[in-house]
Amino acid sequence: MAGTAWLLVPRRASPPMSDKPALLDIIATCRPWLKPRLAELYDVRAVAGPDIRAVATDGTVGIDAALMDRLPDLEMIAVHAVGYDRVDLDHARSRGIRVSNTPDVLTEDVADLAIALMLAVGRQIPRNDAWVRAGRWAREGYPPLARKVSGRRIGVLGLGRIGHAIAHRAAPFASELAYFARAPKPGAPWRHFADPVALAAAVDVLIVAVAGGAGTAGLVDKAVIEALGPEGMLVNIARGSVVDEAALVAALVDGRLGGAGLDVFAEEPDMPEALLTLENVVLQPHQGSATIETRDAMGQLVLDNLEAFFAGRPLPTPVD
Ligand code: 8YV
Repeated sequence: MAGTAWLLVPRRASPPMSDKPALLDIIATCRPWLKPRLAELYDVRAVAGPDIRAVATDGTVGIDAALMDRLPDLEMIAVHAVGYDRVDLDHARSRGIRVSNTPDVLTEDVADLAIALMLAVGRQIPRNDAWVRAGRWAREGYPPLARKVSGRRIGVLGLGRIGHAIAHRAAPFASELAYFARAPKPGAPWRHFADPVALAAAVDVLIVAVAGGAGTAGLVDKAVIEALGPEGMLVNIARGSVVDEAALVAALVDGRLGGAGLDVFAEEPDMPEALLTLENVVLQPHQGSATIETRDAMGQLVLDNLEAFFAGRPLPTPVD
C-alpha cells in the first residue's frame, strides 16, 4: 500500500481568512497599548492593498489621495488628532470614505502648552535653566533680566475650540485680549479683528490657533510678523504651514521680532538651523497633545470611531 500512503498525510489547511476587518495602521505616535488593541480587533496590515477597509493615521502623517487610491476597498479613516489637514478630505468625500478625528479631548493640553510657551519665552525659562546647569549662576551671578508677561496685550489667531481655551487662559495675564476670526464669534467677550495684520499691530503676543490646511497656509506672513515688531512674540501651537517660516526666522535673526515659542514647523521634524541658535526662541517637538491622559483619550476615540463605523452606528466624532 506504499503507493497510496500519501493519501494518509493530512493536507495542510490553507490559512484561515481573518473574519476581522482589515485595517492599515500608519499611526506614528500613540500610547503603547493602542496598537496591540487594534491588532486584537482588526486584521492589521502595515502595507497598502485591496480588502483594507479602514486606515488609522495621525495628524502629522495623514493620508493623501495616492495612498487612498492604493486602497480600493477603503471605507473609513480614523485620525488620531484633531487636525486633519494632511488628510485629502475632498478625495475621501469623492469616494464616500468616512473620516473621524479626536477633538475636545486634547483642547486643554494644547491651550496649556500655548500659555507655557508664552511664559517660557517671556521669562526666558530655558535660557535661565541652561544658565544654572552650566554653573554660570555661581560663576557669573544672575542672567540678564527677562520681560514682564502679565499686562501685555495678547492676541489669539483663530477662535475655535483650542483658540477659545487659550483665550480663557490668557485673559488673566492680558491687559487686553483680542482675536482674529473671519467674523465675530457670538458670545466672545474679546475685541474682534477680521484682519491678521491689524490684530498683530494691536498686540504684544500673538498666539496662532487656527486649523492648518490650504485655507490658512501662510496666514502669518511677513506683514503680520513685522506688525508684531521687535518687542512682539509669536506663539504657534497650530501648524507650521500657517506661518511663513523663512520670514519668521529672518525677523528673529534680525531682531525685527522679539521672540517665538514654537511647537510646530513647516517640515517636521526638520527646522531651519538658525532657530536652534536663537536665545529668544523656545522650541518643542510637536507636544501639544503629548500627555499620557490625553493620548489615552485620543486612542480610545480612534477605537470608538472604528467600532461605531463597523457596527453601522453614527461616528462619535466625524469630520465630514
Ligand atoms: C498629534 C495634532 O501630534 O491633534 C493634532 O492635530 O497635531 C496631534 O495631536 C498627533 O497626531 C499625535 O499622534
